[in-house]
Amino acid sequence: MTEPRNFDAVAEQWDEEPRRVKLAGEIAAAIQEGIPLSGDWDALDFGCGTGLVTFQLAPFVHSITGVDSSSGMIERLTAKIATAGVSNVSAKLYNPDTAELSAGRYHLITSAMTLHHVKDIVPLLASFKALLHPGGRIALADLETEDGSFHEDPTGVFHHGFSAEELSDMLRKAGFSAVSIETATTIVKGERIFPVLLATATSC
Ligand SMILES: C[S@@+](CC[C@H](N)C(=O)[O-])C[C@H]1O[C@@H](n2cnc3c(N)ncnc32)[C@H](O)[C@@H]1O
Repeated sequence: MTEPRNFDAVAEQWDEEPRRVKLAGEIAAAIQEGIPLSGDWDALDFGCGTGLVTFQLAPFVHSITGVDSSSGMIERLTAKIATAGVSNVSAKLYNPDTAELSAGRYHLITSAMTLHHVKDIVPLLASFKALLHPGGRIALADLETEDGSFHEDPTGVFHHGFSAEELSDMLRKAGFSAVSIETATTIVKGERIFPVLLATATSC
């Protein structure tokens, strides 16, 4: 049994890894391809980290709130918001053990490379659904099922990726419809190639 990973220690250097920046750009592009974004929309980026995906989507929505359980990540995102001087991005610390996910209602909830760090996913997806306006959209990017070799440190890795069937089942169990799963991009690590799936769905 693993325990949650402490992302605080890596927050300051998170954006210095070019592979992460590239991946975030590719995931954001896949989200935009899968879902036509609207400048009227309020969005929430769950497990936002330092906001690599959050910032990519911000120009195309009315507002976007980055939510993360790591205070280090949220501090880094808060500093980046101040430096960039953007007014439609906000950062919010979330304690999965004690707090409600977020107040507010959203038209879009995104998440990139975070679901595999969450033990119980269906309740989380149900809480996403409760936060969405009727007809609101969800876009979740994560590893396709892998053999456990993606992470050198297995701490806080609750799932070795997901199959398209697993993602579809979990989304339907949480009450989503119009579920679609695509391969968004791939991550190359040495000689290994790890596909990243993008699941999109609608809250009815
Ligand atoms: C692999 S990082 C991805 C960060 C960012 N989405 C990106 O693409 O750069 C996973 C993030 O999920 C956050 N996280 C892990 N478990 C979480 C939970 N239960 N609730 C909220 N955030 C969580 C971590 O703190 C970390 O910032």
